[in-house]
Amino acid sequence: MTKRTYAVAIDGPAGAGKSTLARRAARDLGFYYVDTGAIYRTVGYHMDFYGIGPRDTDGINRLLGDVNIAIRYDDEGVQHMILNGRDVTGDIRTPEMSAIASVISAQPAVREYLLEMQRELARAHSVVMDGRDIGTVVLPDADVKIFLTADPEVRARRRYEELLARGEKVAFENVLADLQQRDRQDSERKLAPLKRARDAVLLDTTEMDLEQAAAALETIVKERLGL
Ligand code: DC
Repeated sequence: MTKRTYAVAIDGPAGAGKSTLARRAARDLGFYYVDTGAIYRTVGYHMDFYGIGPRDTDGINRLLGDVNIAIRYDDEGVQHMILNGRDVTGDIRTPEMSAIASVISAQPAVREYLLEMQRELARAHSVVMDGRDIGTVVLPDADVKIFLTADPEVRARRRYEELLARGEKVAFENVLADLQQRDRQDSERKLAPLKRARDAVLLDTTEMDLEQAAAALETIVKERLGL
């Protein structure tokens, strides 16, 4: 008999706090945390490294078979992306890689290539998985679905402060503009666009700090999982 695994799907726009909250929830529950945005970023990084742009469908399809991605977790539960044996976790966290990932994720071959990988992770482990299409496409039977959002200005402010803390020199206006463009691209693409699954609980963190958002998320998850 195979062991029952649980899946918590968290979707939402950029900067809604998905990664931070999903990682915490996973740690509390003893589940694996899977940040699927990082997987798209890693594919984008690989293509960029070889000079292939995110709109170059032929080039992407040609190189996709060479993309070997492994996921490892460190002691803090941070997800590390290993691309063909190299840890690219830090390299994929730049504004440039955000923009590339958003465009490349609209490529059908890329989505198809990553779909099975994501489902396999959820078959093998109980997971808290975050992304854009987890509740709608990747894990439509997830035990809990949450659509996490906040006003664009608030999300941009959080992202801006994150980038500043990492020593990146950015202007708030540019962070906001990039985020709005990404929201648009991610929601308007034909394939697996960002949208709230019909059975997802909406969690708007505009007026919440991190602790309040984490507590609200925990309440939803525990109630749905019957814990
Ligand atoms: O969550 P993130 O900002 O790291 O995601 C980067 C991009 O990857 C995002 O703009 C859209 C894409 N993405 C996606 O299309 N589907 C997912 N499940 C996760 C991310």
